[in-house]
Amino acid sequence: MLITPRQDKLNKIVILNPKGGCGKSTLVTNLAACYAKRGTVPAIMDYDPQGSTTAWLERRPDHLPKIHGIVAYKKSMQATRSWQLRVPGETETLLIDSPASFDHDDLRELTRDSTSILVPVLPSLMDIHAASRCIADLLLVAKVDRRDRKLAVIANRTRKNTKSLAKLMRFLDSLGIPIIAVLRDTQNFVRSAEQGIGVCEMPPSSVKPDVVQIEKIVSWLDAWPQRRRESTTTTSINKIPSAASSLLRRAHFGSA
Ligand SMILES: Nc1ncnc2c1ncn2[C@@H]1O[C@H](COP(=O)(O)OP(=O)(O)O)[C@@H](O)[C@H]1O
Ligand SMILES: [Mg+2]
Repeated sequence: MLITPRQDKLNKIVILNPKGGCGKSTLVTNLAACYAKRGTVPAIMDYDPQGSTTAWLERRPDHLPKIHGIVAYKKSMQATRSWQLRVPGETETLLIDSPASFDHDDLRELTRDSTSILVPVLPSLMDIHAASRCIADLLLVAKVDRRDRKLAVIANRTRKNTKSLAKLMRFLDSLGIPIIAVLRDTQNFVRSAEQGIGVCEMPPSSVKPDVVQIEKIVSWLDAWPQRRRESTTTTSINKIPSAASSLLRRAHFGSA
């Protein structure tokens, strides 16, 4: 079973969607680069045995702002698990890159005490079905409370407004889950990943629209204390509307 750190006042951001290739590691690395540029040292916890974010950190040039890396997918023989997973005391922001497969207990553990959960989604029909299932699991299995407003979707590699994307948007809309950014399909994400940097660290002229979207996500993430405060005063979105509820159940039980 997975274990995640228990630390007060940690801004624990989980990037999650079991569908491979939807952009989890791309989001984690780009958000980390953005936080690092701001001057605080963020930490990345890599739970994916593919180790893409860990490899990205290894490629990261020394002169760039530091990002702390924790290799959570490997079990160390030399250290206790809690020592291996320790987050430096001064860390404010922890970004979690999650694996492609996990069971219900892992899902609960990954999302426990999180301030925000981001689900990147590609605009294909198969990916949208997988994302709907993932969101259904988050709400029905991990019991993420929609009133906490901690869940958001990132539409990734979008070229055009497809029918399936419109369907996903209706599904999310009925649940009150926002799509907070739309990332275009661009080699900027591929090239920056190869260099161990984020798009915010590339020459600005060619990456402006991409940086704008990443910064939009960071602004949404930064607002988590307000979201939480608002959620304690809002009761109207507590109940899942019946249409959304049946959609959720269909997604969860696999007949979507
Ligand atoms: N918006 C994008 N435009 C172009 N390529 C992208 C974009 N997002 C991700 N990629 C590329 O797609 C591949 C899969 O992305 P990745 O972040 O590794 O997905 P995951 O971690 O969910 O498996 C990588 O090669 C990555 O560089
Ligand atoms: Mg990955």
